[in-house]
Amino acid sequence: MTADLTAVLAGGRVVPVLTVRAPATAGPLAEALAAGGATCAEVTFRTPDAEQVVKAMAAHGGLAVGAGTILDPEQAERAVAAGAAFIVSPGFDEDVVAKCRELGVPVVPGIATATELMRALRAGLDTVKLFPAEAIGGLRALRSLAAPFPGVRFMPTGGIGVDQLAGYLAEPSVLAVGGSWMATPAHLDSGAYAEIRRLTAEAVEVGGR
Ligand code: 3PG
Repeated sequence: MTADLTAVLAGGRVVPVLTVRAPATAGPLAEALAAGGATCAEVTFRTPDAEQVVKAMAAHGGLAVGAGTILDPEQAERAVAAGAAFIVSPGFDEDVVAKCRELGVPVVPGIATATELMRALRAGLDTVKLFPAEAIGGLRALRSLAAPFPGVRFMPTGGIGVDQLAGYLAEPSVLAVGGSWMATPAHLDSGAYAEIRRLTAEAVEVGGR
């Protein structure tokens, strides 16, 4: 991963994971996240307008906006063309990693086992997403996986909320924690931007402790 993204992730230490159904909400959403102190955000490619959302959020300027749920090289290409500053995958795929390298964009693939982690290392990566973190055993799984791989930095994501945040962030192997709890589709549907800002600020504060 490039020094830039490492610095961004290490700065806020939380990555809001967003599923945005209505592109019109992208502007106020970026505003609320930045006001809450977020340094970055991950826009999942699970909605038809994800590219438009990346473009609109990146235009806000206050956030490093990445693309998540990237499943193949073609999606990575579209995400980068839309302005994604980094790429996140739920799993490890050599072709996605190779495409990101070709495009010169940092990639954080998901891993859930030591075997997948070894493949990521072999591909030259040192930062991975631990996914789905809570479902595979949470902190115990993280510590067990981190032990044999001292140089690896993790971004645990999946089922994490503010109550688990401090525990993960206290681990020396953890660079940042991802999660959707700060800005859910329900928040966006109801225009709850003040709440998004509050939840983001709360998470950023835990990250800064
Ligand atoms: C992701 O794509 O990273 C996850 O779906 C986020 O997990 P969460 O919704 O459980 O926080």
